Amino acid sequence: MTDTQVGIVGAGPAGLLLGHLLARLGIDSVVLEARSREYVEQRVRAGVLEQGTVDVLTETGVADRLQREGMVHHGIELRFGGAGHRVPLSDLAAGRAITVYGQQEVVKDLIAARLDAGLPLEFEAGATEVDAEVGIVRHEGGELRCEVIAGCDGFHGVSRAAVPAQVFERVYPFAWLGILAHAAPSSEELIYTHHERGFALHSMRSPSVTRNYLQVPPDEDIEDWPDERIWAELQTRMALADGSFSLNEGEIFEKGIAPMRSFVAEPMRHGRLFLAGDAAHIVPATGAKGLNLAVADVRVLARGLGAYFDHGDERGLDGYSERCLRRVWRVQHFSWWMTQMLHRLTGDPFEAKLQRSQLEYVVRSEAAARTLAENYVGLELEDA
Ligand code: FAD
Ligand code: DHB
Repeated sequence: MTDTQVGIVGAGPAGLLLGHLLARLGIDSVVLEARSREYVEQRVRAGVLEQGTVDVLTETGVADRLQREGMVHHGIELRFGGAGHRVPLSDLAAGRAITVYGQQEVVKDLIAARLDAGLPLEFEAGATEVDAEVGIVRHEGGELRCEVIAGCDGFHGVSRAAVPAQVFERVYPFAWLGILAHAAPSSEELIYTHHERGFALHSMRSPSVTRNYLQVPPDEDIEDWPDERIWAELQTRMALADGSFSLNEGEIFEKGIAPMRSFVAEPMRHGRLFLAGDAAHIVPATGAKGLNLAVADVRVLARGLGAYFDHGDERGLDGYSERCLRRVWRVQHFSWWMTQMLHRLTGDPFEAKLQRSQLEYVVRSEAAARTLAENYVGLELEDA
């Protein structure tokens, strides 16, 4: 006897969206989350949604607020050598666009949809151990017997330990200091800046809130970055040679440092357990892909589980890991490529010259810009 068809460990974007897609297929699930509802709804992370991510949220009825508040962008700017260069994403990628909408807003929308539908979602019920052979999730409040377990508990969760996986990893010698500030965006589109003092990124959350990032050393202490130092460094790195750019400043209400890492665990399945999202893989944030990759995984998983529970067809589940890993490695490459092109690396002048040449080529060659654009807006689920 089982308690549910699918036990979902983790209520991040991967776990919540999987639960939502399964409900639409008539498949029961229970979501167990270690933290409180307030905590997961306030946790500030990514902000760029690929077209495919927006499409799946829209098609499945959880995008009303996203459609109202999300900001659709058709291009990004690459800034280096004191000059800006627009990459017209939509012109280069068959009309596809990105939408800027905070990850925690997606999480809020999915939690509301699940609770409104009366579906089980337990907060402060962290899993302590997952048994992939039998299908049991042990947690703080007892145990959950499942036909299938979805390990959606992020990079620091417990699910991955139950998969005998080979790990591929790279840790970068820098981190991102990210802020949210009450300040109007200084540009209509995101600005990715390569500067000799390090990378900087200008993004936004609304017409009155900006999100900015600075490359900092990996062991940096946030206490060493008072607000004035953050603004001064952003202004220096993002300045245009003709003096025509000034970054709007405002009260900083959120500050944090995130490490940069590439990580893949292969395979993504063992027995009854399927890993999805950050539980299986991490990308450096430069390509804005972590959340989108989590969404792509659970779309594939939901489809496989649909065929399995509907008519016992296991082919989708058997092919899950291989199918996802094709996209994971494409995205790993893109995220690594963006990261090594835009950050200050070792300070080696030869490396800096190569970076500069690469940036100039990307903004000069339509073929190179198209490569950036089609990866940035996201490949179709079928293409990767
Ligand atoms: P998560 O969002 O991590 O969700 C996992 C959930 O599982 C969490 O709610 C967690 O509390 C819960 N959990 C953990 N352990 C257990 C357990 N034992 N039992 C039950 N539940 C558990 N990506 C970008 O593209 N741009 C960014 O700027 C960016 N910034 C980031 C900043 C930080 C600090 C981090 C950690 C990630 C960032 N990312 C960013 C990556 C992106 O946010 C992730 O790829 C995305 O959250 C993946 O979703 P997920 O559902 O797989 O995992
Ligand atoms: C944001 C985060 C990213 O990693 C990125 O590449 C672009 C934007 C953001 O949080 O807005």
